Amino acid sequence: MEVLGILPLVMDNSDKSGGIVILDFGSQYTQLIARRIREFEVYSEILPWNATEARIMGPRPKGIILSGGPRSATGPDAPSIDKSLLTGTVPVLGICYGMQLIAHTLGGSVEKGRLGEYGRTRVIFGDGAREKILKGVPDAIDVWMSHWDEVSSLPDGAAQFGVSESGSCAAFSMDDGRITALQFHPEVDTTEYGREILSNFLYDICGCEPNWKLGDWVKRSLGDIGSTVGHDERVICGISGGVDSTVAAVLVSKVIGDRLDCIFVDHGFMRKNEPEQVVEAYKKLNLRIRHVDASEKFLAAVNGVTSPEEKRKIIGELFVRVFEDEARKVGGAKWLLQGTIYPDVIESGFVGGDVIKSHHNVGGLPEDMEMSLLEPIRELFKDEVRRIGPLLGIPEELLKRHPFPGPGLAVRCLGNLARERLDILREADAIFMEEIRNFGLYDSIWQAFCALLPVRSVGVAGDIRTYGETVVLRAVASRDAMTAESVRLPWELIDRVAKRVCGEVPLVGRVVMDVTGKPPATIEWE
Ligand code: XMP
Repeated sequence: MEVLGILPLVMDNSDKSGGIVILDFGSQYTQLIARRIREFEVYSEILPWNATEARIMGPRPKGIILSGGPRSATGPDAPSIDKSLLTGTVPVLGICYGMQLIAHTLGGSVEKGRLGEYGRTRVIFGDGAREKILKGVPDAIDVWMSHWDEVSSLPDGAAQFGVSESGSCAAFSMDDGRITALQFHPEVDTTEYGREILSNFLYDICGCEPNWKLGDWVKRSLGDIGSTVGHDERVICGISGGVDSTVAAVLVSKVIGDRLDCIFVDHGFMRKNEPEQVVEAYKKLNLRIRHVDASEKFLAAVNGVTSPEEKRKIIGELFVRVFEDEARKVGGAKWLLQGTIYPDVIESGFVGGDVIKSHHNVGGLPEDMEMSLLEPIRELFKDEVRRIGPLLGIPEELLKRHPFPGPGLAVRCLGNLARERLDILREADAIFMEEIRNFGLYDSIWQAFCALLPVRSVGVAGDIRTYGETVVLRAVASRDAMTAESVRLPWELIDRVAKRVCGEVPLVGRVVMDVTGKPPATIEWE
C-alpha cells in the first residue's frame, strides 16, 4: 500500500458517527447543506424525510437538519416528522420548510403569508438575549428567503429571535437553543454570515469535531475495500477516463493490485481521439486495461431511439452486459467497480427526491446483474473526489479533465443517433475544445462541450442554398454540477469557433450558444 507514504499526517478518528443527518424534504438546496457541512470537516448524510427513526439515529448523529421543501406543512399529504425526533436530546436545525414543520409539529401554526418572501431579504435579530447560533453575527443581515408560508404562532416554550423586514417570523429557538428554526437559508452564499451560522450550529450547539478528513477517508476506504473484497476475488472496473472512475480504480488497485481488470468500453459515443488517449493514460497509472470496441453493438441498440431516458437505460444496461462478457473472459469477476458519486445517487432518486436523470452508473442497472457492485466513492462529492486524486498519485491532467457523462455523446446528439451525426459532433467538439485551450480557459471552466440539435436550418454558401445541422456550444461554471451558470466566453473565441465549425465540419450550417443556467436547464441536453 504505497499510497500511505504520500498521505498527509491526519487524525485517525474520522468516522461517520458524530456527524449530521440532513432530512430531505425536497429542497433544491439539500445537497448544498451537506456540502457546506463537509467544508467544516464534519460528516453529513442526506436521508429521505420519511426514513425510520432507527435509520436516522443509527449513525449516532450529533445533530439533525431539516431541509427546506416545496410543500405546505399543513397540507393533506405534507411530509412530516416523528415528534420524538424533536423532543429528544439531539440538536435540530430547521431551515425554511424545516422551520415551519417544527412549528406545526410542536403546536404552533403555519399560514400562507400575505406576499411571500423571495430573494435577498433583511432580517433583524434585535439586541435581546443572544442565541448560540448567532455568535459573531451582527444584529441585522441580508439573507436568502424563498417561501410563501410563514410561522404565524409559535409552539409553547419557543422564543422568536429574528424578524424579517416584512414583519414575519424569521427565526425562533426552543429548549435553550437545542432546537433552532430559521426561515432563511444559511447554506446559500447570498445569506450574509451563513457560514458562521452553520459553524455555530455544528461546533457550538452540536459539539461536532472537525474529523471528516479526506486523508482519513482514504485510509478507511482502503481498509473497507480490503475487508469487502475476498482474497481470491477479482474486480472489474469500467473506466471512462473521467475523474470518478479513475479515482475509484486507483483506490481499489492500491489494495488488490492486479486482481483489478479495467475495462474501457468504447461505446461509440466518445469524443475525438478519446479512446487512444484514455488507454495511454491508464497504462501510465499501471492499471491493467482492456480496450473493448463495442460501438457497433451500442449504435444498433439505440438505433431509432430519441427519448433521453430510454437512451440512458439502454446504454446503461448494455454497458453492464458488455462488462459481464469481459468478466467471463478474465476468469470471472465477483465485483463490478463503479465510480458512482453522491450526486449520482441522489439525482437518480435513491434518497427520496424526484428522479431527474437516470445516471448511467446508477439508474440503468439491470435487476438480474450477475456481479456485485463495488462503489467506494459513492459518499463523496465531486470536489472531494478531485482532492483525493493527488493523495493517490493521480496526475493533475487526469483530475482536471472536464466531466463527461457515462452515455457520452449519445446524450449530446439529439435526434437520430447515426454514426455520421456523431462524427459531426466529434469534429465540432474537438474544434471548440482546441480553441478553449488556445485561449487558456480550459482549466477555469467546469465543463464545456458541443451538442448537436435535431434542427436543420437554411443557409447560403457560395450562392448555393444549404440546409445544415445545428451545433450548440455550452460552457458552464459550477462547483459540483448541482447548479451551474453559463460562462461568458470571449466573443473572439465564440466567433472563431463558429467560423471554424461551419467552415471545417461538413454539413454544419449554424452554430448557436446555450446560455441557460442550471436550474432551470440541466448541464447536458438529455
Ligand atoms: P446534468 O446534465 O444532470 O449533469 O446537469 C450534471 C453533471 O453530471 C454529468 N452527467 C453524467 N455523469 N453519468 C455520469 O457519469 C451520467 O449518466 C451523466 N449524466 C450527466 C454531466 O456531464 C454534468 O457534469
